[in-house]
Amino acid sequence: RAHFARQHDLDGRRILITAGPTHEDLDPVRYLGNRSTGKMGIALAEAAAARGASVDLILGPTPLSPQGTGINVTHVRTALEMHREALQRWPQATDGILCAAVADYRPETVAPEKIKKTGDGLTLKLVRNPDIAAELGQQKQPGQFLVGFALETENGVENARGKLERKGLDLIVLNSPRVAGAAFGHDTNQIQLIDGNKVTSFELKPKREVADDILDRLPAHPTPSP
Ligand code: CTP
Ligand code: CA
Repeated sequence: RAHFARQHDLDGRRILITAGPTHEDLDPVRYLGNRSTGKMGIALAEAAAARGASVDLILGPTPLSPQGTGINVTHVRTALEMHREALQRWPQATDGILCAAVADYRPETVAPEKIKKTGDGLTLKLVRNPDIAAELGQQKQPGQFLVGFALETENGVENARGKLERKGLDLIVLNSPRVAGAAFGHDTNQIQLIDGNKVTSFELKPKREVADDILDRLPAHPTPSP
């Protein structure tokens, strides 16, 4: 779609976007995290708002924040917080784009006081976090369109297709941390868009342009949200 045609093509849409890492607390001063910066999800939020959508951005801890109007940002720290905020907003959304790097596990308990150094080693017990994408996929209503991301270091297309099916997604964005200039922390990304039928490969380009390529795949005539 040419730039002029994109200006209002998302008018009336309400798009839920998760972005950034999560921080899973160990004690009052420490957490387990990951290298996500939220750039791709922020670019998606900015691009969607510029095209007329009303955006609910649920953003994990990052110093970055979106520019422009039409974006309602909810800041969260942990996967459990992101899960709660996303599930609460999903029924009102026409589309969901799940860009966040959600921790798969969290410490079983959060120590109330700073953990003191004692023996030679320390073993942490971790428990599974809820899968936000899978739950939104399960609760998806007719007309809602759900997009996920996959970051794979091997068997990319095969693993991404598995996630697409398991989580009830309509589209999955595959990016590889092995491509120079792509994924975490970079201003550019190189993606493949995968749905049930086909794989479309894109060049390495700025994340804002990648965002527009993804948004171009949202269905043109959504059923209005309930
Ligand atoms: N995701 C999510 N909630 C989780 C884990 C993942 O919403 N607890 C979403 C991510 O935002 C992404 C998609 O699911 O859109 C795939 O994430 P990924 O970590 O690649 O998939 P996992 O199912 O966690 O598989 P893996 O074992 O490869 O980490
Ligand atoms: Ca994961």
